Amino acid sequence: MVIEPRMRGFICLTAHPKGCEQNVKNQIEYVKSKGKIDGAKKVLVIGASTGFGLASRIASAFGSDAATIGVFFEKPPQEGKTASPGWYNSAAFEQEATKAGLYAKSINGDAFSDEVKRQTLDMIKADLGQVDLVIYSLASPVRLHPKTGVLHRSTLKPIGQTFTNKTVDFHTGNVTNVSIEPANQEDIDNTVTVMGGEDWAMWMEALKSENLLADGATTIAYSYIGPSLTEPVYRKGTIGRAKDHLEATAFEITDTLKDINGKAYVSVNKALVTQASSAIPVIPLYISLLYKLMKEEGIHEGCIEQIQRLYADRVFTGKDIPLDENGRIRIDDWEMRDDIQDKIAVLWEKATTENLSEIGDLAGYKQDFLNLFGFGFDGVDYLADANEMVQVPSI
Ligand code: NAI
Ligand code: NA
Repeated sequence: MVIEPRMRGFICLTAHPKGCEQNVKNQIEYVKSKGKIDGAKKVLVIGASTGFGLASRIASAFGSDAATIGVFFEKPPQEGKTASPGWYNSAAFEQEATKAGLYAKSINGDAFSDEVKRQTLDMIKADLGQVDLVIYSLASPVRLHPKTGVLHRSTLKPIGQTFTNKTVDFHTGNVTNVSIEPANQEDIDNTVTVMGGEDWAMWMEALKSENLLADGATTIAYSYIGPSLTEPVYRKGTIGRAKDHLEATAFEITDTLKDINGKAYVSVNKALVTQASSAIPVIPLYISLLYKLMKEEGIHEGCIEQIQRLYADRVFTGKDIPLDENGRIRIDDWEMRDDIQDKIAVLWEKATTENLSEIGDLAGYKQDFLNLFGFGFDGVDYLADANEMVQVPSI
């Protein structure tokens, strides 16, 4: 069967196994090209199948020869349907890790649930004894709360007032105005429950209570800030409240890890095209302008470049980890450079349907979006019959 991209709205319904494999192999090659990192050796990645979590798993395995356990929620292939990209990514990752003699096992299920936590603890106990790094990289629109049974849905809304600004439909390049109605208190609470720090703290408590964290263990979750331009819909919106909560949770977790010299950090990462960010209004237009400017300056990064730099230049240097005034690791430093943001503010005013492909990197946005699903990679024969018999060996 030949697999083609089938777009519906902001998602692609198909994924290409060989293209996803190529994506993983490219990331592995990048990490290897940058040399060894004296990092963690036994790593749990929660949200390990795409985006920053996948990059974290690859950087740990191929940068520091780490054994990795990956937790994610992905669809396996079914009759007449491809798997979700994260499933193919994980199959390819396990294949490459195993080839390299590295331990790699995965758990496919709801990380918010008690059952998946239980399975993960048992796997660590049986196979690794303890872990020394826990990466928390979940991005989910919903959370079934394990204690109350309530299904919470997150929203992407401004708080206090309607937000009107430009946005782009990246499929067509149409720049239009969009208005987003403000959230009510329930929206805010639900978003904090889904994307805030409660589940991260639950994971760390579960690991600690069964003595599965090594002395000096580190845990890192990912956050975003961005410029004032996107503040109403991001950092000062519902998702921003969740990020505030996540960041506050880092300090609470650190308190609970004192006796084992453990530390919890939040790393603020760069805006990138992922399935999650494509669904947020205004952000795709910002990203198209950002990509153009960062590429011109030679400072553009994808997930793997970000996480490789996070490990090599921030976390595993043998020195204290540099933190901002709010105690966060900043790897969004190049995105937030004044020269970049000043130029974006000017381009933002100018951007129209007619000029966006010139003043912005719409082509780069589209390419990255296709890449998420395994399409558009050099070295993949997209006309060949795609082998559907890919397996995730450990699940
Ligand atoms: P992503 O959508 O690529 O990855 C999400 C991961 O979570 C996948 O592995 C998915 O399988 C897993 N997942 C989702 N629901 C799950 C569940 N119920 N149980 C188990 N696994 C589940 O997202 P991305 O962009 O890598 O986001 C990861 C983190 O990075 C998020 O906290 C996000 O806010 C943050 N971040 C993202 C930025 C961006 O521009 N994309 C920028 C800065 C931070
Ligand atoms: Na991720």
